[in-house]
Amino acid sequence: MIYLKTPEEISQMRPAADLVSRTLGEVARWIAPGVTTLKLDTIAREFIRDNGGKPACLGYEGFPATLCIEVNETVVHGFPSNYALREGDIIGIDTVVEKDGFMGDSCYTFAVGEVDPKVMQLCRTTKESLYVGIEACRPGHRIGDIANAIQTYCEHRGYSVVREMCGHGIGRGMHESPEVPNYGRRGIGPVIRNGMCIRIEPMINLGSRNIVIERDGWTCRTKDRKPSAHYEHTLAVVDDKVEILTTFDYIHQAITDRFI
Ligand code: MF3
Ligand code: CO
Repeated sequence: MIYLKTPEEISQMRPAADLVSRTLGEVARWIAPGVTTLKLDTIAREFIRDNGGKPACLGYEGFPATLCIEVNETVVHGFPSNYALREGDIIGIDTVVEKDGFMGDSCYTFAVGEVDPKVMQLCRTTKESLYVGIEACRPGHRIGDIANAIQTYCEHRGYSVVREMCGHGIGRGMHESPEVPNYGRRGIGPVIRNGMCIRIEPMINLGSRNIVIERDGWTCRTKDRKPSAHYEHTLAVVDDKVEILTTFDYIHQAITDRFI
């Protein structure tokens, strides 16, 4: 069942969405060759708590950390570790924050120093496809319209779409109905309507779409070990308009600050 939120409840989602956005902005300041992903996890956990939030991934169904870490071929749900980032890596950071009883979820894939132009293009296209999906998310349209828009955009550019993982509804729960896939037919799935809160999160591969789950039961990587990119926003439909509750502005600010 899709739990439609009142405008008041949607307002209550804003602090969580803002805090998860600011958390990614904070983490962005630290991403550099030599930094371990565990260090990034500690920074995020402390930042969330210092700002009155709760790291919602930590302990969720046994997940051991605040951040999901997605280095290169990792698609989703990787663990932080003592791996030190290297020049040329890409790293997706996905996390969920709970604040005032509601959840906010966002993900951004960062470049570590100079990255292969082919991989940068994968990241750019994946980020663009997130906004293409958001553009297709309109009241009266269907979830399949979002899915098809993302798939078409990415496949036309030679990339492949991960099918086993998808976006979801979000609210008081981390995973609510409906599922929001990144592939599929237009005109199918639930109708998008006022009160819906969902997250759109394309996971796009440079090589084949196939994935494997590592023996830890969580880490999802590409079968061919080619890179995968992932971007995510939390959105709400309110007053017949779609509002992006999370923002990459803090990240973009942090990244520019470091290069001036
Ligand atoms: N943030 C993830 C998503 O986009 C879910 C996190 S799973 C957890 O769906 F176990 F890490 F919490
Ligand atoms: Co997420």
